[in-house]
Amino acid sequence: MNEKNLLEQLLHYAKLDVYPFHMPGHKRNAALLGETLPYALDITEIDGFDNLHAPQGILKKLNEQLSRIWGSRQSFALVNGSTCGILAGVAACVSRGDTVLVARNCHQSVYHALELFGAKPVYLLPPVDAGSSIAGSITPEQVRRALEAHRNTRLIIVTSPTYDGVISDMAGIVDAAHKKQIPVLADEAHGAHLAFTELAKYSAVHAGADIVIHSLHKTLPALTQCAAAHLCGALVDPVRFARALSVFETSSPSYILLASIAQCADFLETKGTAAFASYRDRLAAFSDSCRDLRHLVALGKGRDTLENHPTFFAFDFGKLPVVTARTQMDGQTLLQALRQRFAIEGEMAAVSYALLMTSVCDTDAGFSRLADALHAIDCEAAPCEMPPVFPAQTLPEMRFTPAEAAALPGRLCGFSDCLGKTGLSYIRLYPPGTPLLVPGEVFDALIVEQLQAAEAHHLQVLTSCGKPGHALVCD
Ligand SMILES: Cc1ncc(COP(=O)(O)O)c(C=O)c1O
Repeated sequence: MNEKNLLEQLLHYAKLDVYPFHMPGHKRNAALLGETLPYALDITEIDGFDNLHAPQGILKKLNEQLSRIWGSRQSFALVNGSTCGILAGVAACVSRGDTVLVARNCHQSVYHALELFGAKPVYLLPPVDAGSSIAGSITPEQVRRALEAHRNTRLIIVTSPTYDGVISDMAGIVDAAHKKQIPVLADEAHGAHLAFTELAKYSAVHAGADIVIHSLHKTLPALTQCAAAHLCGALVDPVRFARALSVFETSSPSYILLASIAQCADFLETKGTAAFASYRDRLAAFSDSCRDLRHLVALGKGRDTLENHPTFFAFDFGKLPVVTARTQMDGQTLLQALRQRFAIEGEMAAVSYALLMTSVCDTDAGFSRLADALHAIDCEAAPCEMPPVFPAQTLPEMRFTPAEAAALPGRLCGFSDCLGKTGLSYIRLYPPGTPLLVPGEVFDALIVEQLQAAEAHHLQVLTSCGKPGHALVCD
């Protein structure tokens, strides 16, 4: 087989008259099952298609292509999302009882890793942007101070860019960490595209973070769950990382997802430069169109510049938080108006903003529809000042580490009765799923206040105990 990439190889194979006496059970029988789903391409590790967990052929080449595109030491195609890369990254770096510096606004997968591997978290609390209530950047100075205070730190985990698009000074953070021989895991799930923009210099790959995790599906043309892990520094053993991946990644990787990663990689290599140039132009035109918004603020667009957001080191221009804080609307009201009146579905609502996500695959028509919708809503908006609510600027008391808390017996308790008790559940606002309360922390008045505000603004509160409005607690 000398086809160019995995998808072409799958398409070629599907046309051959090879009968599958192997998994999957659908047997590529479109006559029986219909052609709506891509059964014909959904194979397993049959002859000629390599093995994701011991790649020697086409999947090895795919990993090498990813490494070439991003400029890593070694890369790994992932089919279980960034989640499996983050779990493996933490597993490769920490042992039970180790101290880990963690940005508090990390994704739930980071917390799950801390819990699984018995790490002791020391949180880096991001500052809050006054105008939008969006969490700002973690600074190298914060990291340096924390490393001084916690000399036994084994790993640093930072999310950059965040879900909202806020970028931290990863070069400064990596420098501070590497001076002490401490590895950095960068959750760059939302930043796989940075390498193709003028923000490339701020990417964690460029900064030489030891492990960088990308959700290709979030900001690049790839199917949901497609992701990549890149080893960019020298402080993590690639063998240990690969072994950990084999624990957390499925033993039945979808070739449809792998083909999507291959397609994405080919797109970036062959069409990336032109596509990202058009994307930049589209965003610039959209930004211009936001200049005359009166009450809504498209963050970083129109007349809003980064100088208005001093807690942001840099900002991903592809993210579009639309701040409603100067209107009578909350984020959810804005999302509803966009959905019901303009057939636009946004990404997520917070109290004082709604987040819209753009990508290199957006169209001029899509941007125009959004610009028209925002102008129509802005014209009708009544000015009004909404006090900022999230996120909190203090951390709840930690009585137990997440791993210790996971081993404690608990009882279900309604949120309204939780004050003063130790929570054993994660309490999260979803999306993005960063926690208000981590197991082992105390329900204080601020948490209760935040839960009430979330309810008032129709934000989804998820609790890991499975019963809405409740948490597992111990007294
Ligand atoms: C910051 C961040 N990291 C990691 C993840 C996990 O990514 P995935 O869904 O690809 O597993 C998410 C998902 O929303 C995220 O927002």
